[in-house]
Amino acid sequence: MALMVITLCSTIFLILYSERNHPRVDPKSKGKDQMARRSFILWLHGLGDSGPANEPIKTLFTSIEFNNTKWSFPSAPYNPVSCNHGAVMPSWFDIHELPVTAHSPKEEDGVLKAVKHVHSMIDEEIAAGTNPANVFVCGFSQGGALTLASVLLYPKTLGGGAVFSGWVPFNQSIFEKLPENGKKAPILWCHGMEDRTVLFEAGQAGPPFLDKADVSCEFKAYPGLGHSISSKEMEYLQSWIKSHLQGPS
Ligand SMILES: *[C@@H]1O[C@H](CO)[C@@H](O)[C@H](O)[C@H]1NC(C)=O
Ligand SMILES: *[C@@H]1O[C@H](CO)[C@@H](O)[C@H](O)[C@H]1NC(C)=O
Repeated sequence: MALMVITLCSTIFLILYSERNHPRVDPKSKGKDQMARRSFILWLHGLGDSGPANEPIKTLFTSIEFNNTKWSFPSAPYNPVSCNHGAVMPSWFDIHELPVTAHSPKEEDGVLKAVKHVHSMIDEEIAAGTNPANVFVCGFSQGGALTLASVLLYPKTLGGGAVFSGWVPFNQSIFEKLPENGKKAPILWCHGMEDRTVLFEAGQAGPPFLDKADVSCEFKAYPGLGHSISSKEMEYLQSWIKSHLQGPS
């Protein structure tokens, strides 16, 4: 019997490359290059995908503010995935059912284990001298759910977390585990209204959940967008990160 295996990769690049941005150098930002502070952007891919396949995302960040940005595109370890009948593939934690709805079962233990892995990458970068306020975690789908968990559970306040087509991977019992500093990081949540894999309702459940934990979240709904990433979202991400970058102190 053929096994149907669903991966949640982003179908991003066809879209992105067809509307590739031309490098824009704002004349007003001339001379700002010396002020471009070191920043770190960690991108967490979706189920069955790989880090290197997502690397072209960084070519879209053409503003001079990203001149001194270090990018990291780690790949998830290979794990059996319940919603794919135990098939082994790159997966940050287990997923029980697809589509993911607002009420899908949560896999908290697995998520917390994956969070530790992400935290060790952030720790390393901060130890190397990057201001935590200039560390941004971004992720798509399963990687978006992990982004949310990683940013809110980090003991320092990071620059922010950006969730694309993700979901909340735990219930309110997590609130007591969230460090006060972690909760101060701003969250950006973008979700396609036509998403049939991680339902739009799963995205919409995010802001009220975060509000109960006193986490600030900006939610952006994208009409006509399915389970993928659009160039509009990436443009917005660029301006959102820029607006949160800390200059020289
Ligand atoms: C970016 O920074 C490097 C040094 O880190 C510098 O040599 C280069 O000219 C800068 N590029 C721009 C476009 O500012
Ligand atoms: C919430 O999650 C915790 C940890 O996974 C679990 O023990 C608890 O049963 C869950 N509560 C509800 C209401 O689902």
